[in-house]
Amino acid sequence: MYQALYRAYRPEIFEEMLGQKHIVKILKNQLTTDTINHAYLFCGTRGTGKTTTARILAKGLNCLAEGEKPCGKCENCLAIQEGTFIDVIEMDAASNNGVENIRELRESVKYPPAVGRKKVYIIDEVHMLSTGAFNALLKTLEEPPENVVFVLATTEPQKLPATILSRCMRLDFRRVPENTLVSGMQAICEDRGVRTSEDALHLIAANADGSVRDALSILDQCLSGGQMNISRDDVLEFLGTSGIEVFLEMTDLVQSGRTSEAILLLSKVLADGKDVRQFMRDWLSHYRGLLISKFVQNPQDILNMSLENTERLAVQAEKLDLSEISCVIVELAKTMADAKWSPQPRVLLELCIVKLSENGFATALLTKRQEGDAQGKKRQHKAMEAADGNNIQTVKEEKKEKKADPVIPADEEAAVSVEKTDCGEERNALPEDFSLEALWHRIFEDGESFKTSFNLIRSGTSLEAITEKEFIVSASSSLKLRYLKENAATLEDLMEKHTGVRRRLRCAEQTDEAIKQETDIDAIRAMAEEALGIKVEIE
Ligand SMILES: Nc1ncnc2c1ncn2[C@@H]1O[C@H](COP(=O)(O)OP(=O)(O)OP(=O)(O)O)[C@@H](O)[C@H]1O
Ligand SMILES: [Mg+2]
Ligand SMILES: [Zn+2]
Repeated sequence: MYQALYRAYRPEIFEEMLGQKHIVKILKNQLTTDTINHAYLFCGTRGTGKTTTARILAKGLNCLAEGEKPCGKCENCLAIQEGTFIDVIEMDAASNNGVENIRELRESVKYPPAVGRKKVYIIDEVHMLSTGAFNALLKTLEEPPENVVFVLATTEPQKLPATILSRCMRLDFRRVPENTLVSGMQAICEDRGVRTSEDALHLIAANADGSVRDALSILDQCLSGGQMNISRDDVLEFLGTSGIEVFLEMTDLVQSGRTSEAILLLSKVLADGKDVRQFMRDWLSHYRGLLISKFVQNPQDILNMSLENTERLAVQAEKLDLSEISCVIVELAKTMADAKWSPQPRVLLELCIVKLSENGFATALLTKRQEGDAQGKKRQHKAMEAADGNNIQTVKEEKKEKKADPVIPADEEAAVSVEKTDCGEERNALPEDFSLEALWHRIFEDGESFKTSFNLIRSGTSLEAITEKEFIVSASSSLKLRYLKENAATLEDLMEKHTGVRRRLRCAEQTDEAIKQETDIDAIRAMAEEALGIKVEIE
């Protein structure tokens, strides 16, 4: 069976970890000084090494070698690597989130390690535990037996009760810097005898936005054709013109009044198969990124972007005035609202580009920029060359993050259960208290070994709802959206496998509604009038 790159190259010892030096240092030190905590909480972005580190720590605690632990080679290390070591218990809280699961765990915690020194419980996706399960877990965390270590891992620590947080040593996993990703990929390519140029790997790294799993999955895709030589163009061809560099360039052209080049760039992007409306959305998101980087010091998390990509944004934002940015946002939002119902969205966008680039504010500032920024341009072009990453988060996503756990709306729940009873038997494999998030998680656990862009949509997509005939998924960027569509058939198969019912994938339009709400002047006026109790006119 084919093994995805990111699984074939899972680090087995601390030294193989990319980045996360701050965490490795602490854990290694605790191992050598025998000052291990009894509970850890590993937090951070997907694909940055939480589960991997939990396993390495488990090895370190049970390694038989004399010197540096873990050795990765002794009997115990190998058994843990294989997943056959009985004192290391991994539990996926997405599928075992009930009180009874934790009760079982509590029962087993009482027994001392059978063969190893320490029993290690790794609870992945711990934020998905039910309230009852959290309470049950709390009791164990309060009075942990000797020789037991808990490692809880989550991407969403804010969903954990304070009582749990306060009992764990929290370690935050960071997005892995581009250079580190590049050297990691270089080592793999060497190992596989594949030649790659450094800028090709930089482009992949920029797209991965700090996730090692994403970087390796993109690399996997690029290698899947069997070629032994990978250039930047190959990567570009695979990624398409959806990366940040297109928006950096487009913005630059428009802001410096180079209308014809901007129109040509648009035409190139569309010829590459990009959807006009999607382009508008992504461009607007780019401006949102510029706006935010004017105000927020380290916007990686709000924008869900790597440090390097936020730096590219910051370089561009520095050259723009707030008024320029806001002007474009208003103009683009208007164009999007118009384009929504127009059969000719492209013309509207072209018109918008002309307006923006010929606009007074752009030309007035042009002189200033030309004088002051010959250097800046150079810098930026360099950045653009190495750039990409369609890591542009959409307007709505920030709101989505604040939303509570997704649950199936009542009427839709009914639709699911109708299918259950329909044929007289339990066709639906969904547990009673299942959550959309847990279901989505299980689908990716199942598809781990797929040799497609499948693993790239593990991060950046979320299951929004399930209806009788469809499941609705949103994507955080157009790149992820593309992969989502590419993998529709696989997702539909897996969805059927996990729910017992065939449903079609529908991709949620993420920003349309949000943007419409924000740009519907009449609606804004109506709201203002209601709030103020007077007649309002918006110019
Ligand atoms: N820091 C890292 N160094 C080297 N490889 C890594 C690192 N982080 C992740 N990987 C690669 O990505 C794969 C997935 O990593 P892992 O399961 O540890 O991520 P995670 O943080 O637990 O992600 P998730 O939040 O999705 O569970 C690993 O098999 C490995 O190939
Ligand atoms: Mg994990
Ligand atoms: Zn060992």
